[in-house]
Amino acid sequence: MSTNNNPLLNSNLAKIIDLVSKANPLQKKKILSYVSNQDEKYFLFAENLSKTIIEDFLTTEKEQIDAAAAYNKMCMDFLKEQIRFKKTGVYRIDDAAIANEEVYSDPLVMRYYMVGLLISYMFWPNHYQLFQFFKTHLPVNEPKSYLEVGVGHGLFSSTMLKTYPNIQATCVDISETSIKTAKEVLQSFYVNTKNIDYVLGDFFTVDINKKFDFIIMGEVLEHVNDAYGFMRRAKEFLKEDGRIYMSTAANSPALDHVYHFHNEKEITDLLDQTGFLVEDDLVLPADDIPKELWEQELVTLNYCCILKHK
Ligand SMILES: C[S@@+](CC[C@H](N)C(=O)[O-])C[C@H]1O[C@@H](n2cnc3c(N)ncnc32)[C@H](O)[C@@H]1O
Repeated sequence: MSTNNNPLLNSNLAKIIDLVSKANPLQKKKILSYVSNQDEKYFLFAENLSKTIIEDFLTTEKEQIDAAAAYNKMCMDFLKEQIRFKKTGVYRIDDAAIANEEVYSDPLVMRYYMVGLLISYMFWPNHYQLFQFFKTHLPVNEPKSYLEVGVGHGLFSSTMLKTYPNIQATCVDISETSIKTAKEVLQSFYVNTKNIDYVLGDFFTVDINKKFDFIIMGEVLEHVNDAYGFMRRAKEFLKEDGRIYMSTAANSPALDHVYHFHNEKEITDLLDQTGFLVEDDLVLPADDIPKELWEQELVTLNYCCILKHK
């Protein structure tokens, strides 16, 4: 990056990097080495998201300092779970009811988790790539409706609503704090919020009586006990010619991950057996290790795809 043409100069992105680095100096080198190798497209995305966070979502200095602390705390949570997982080979919890009790229904935990996760889309290479995959696979023909399951921080819905301002949105989440955070984030993006139905509840049991042109299910499948049942339920809500964007992870311990995929094949087998065709997909290993060693070395894999009915 030349100093004359430094995209970080006076940017909102630089402000967030600075706040995160002040809260944890170890992050500075890591983030800067990632950011300095990115292209113009990355900077447009990251600056736009940073600007929204700083100027519209978390506008006071205290909220911004808390957001930096939230990101650092979330990274630390993942690191601790990762260290434990490398020793044991299993996730700490295997029951979604425990994740609900310890994470989703605790406003303090869920708020820092969702704010941290939102920021991770700028600083975690795999999250940035998942989001790019999502953006490049948006439906070409304008969809009339979409459903987001596990709306979380609302970033994916913000893109849908910006791209298709008249679309009818249904956003489901089991966590009241996620719904509240998504509402704030979507308002901060100045999208059309008139056509959004927020549904608080477990996707397995929510009462929704319609089918959708497009469904978004980012990083939710690994949060449920019955991943097969979850995908079959999603299928019921998808129109005949509809599409699903889905992402999940294998060997990816977290505070609230309960369904342990060991490799990519377990994911694609599940999709096949629940009646889906994978139109396109992307597998992102977190470590630079040969593919044949991924499972043995418990390498975290992020996986995303576009699905249609078989
Ligand atoms: C890791 S966040 C993912 C947020 C966002 N979709 C993304 O891709 O970054 C998982 C979200 O799914 C929600 N969730 C977990 N289990 C759920 C269920 N059974 N029904 C609805 N939402 C659920 C959580 O509350 C949380 O907001």
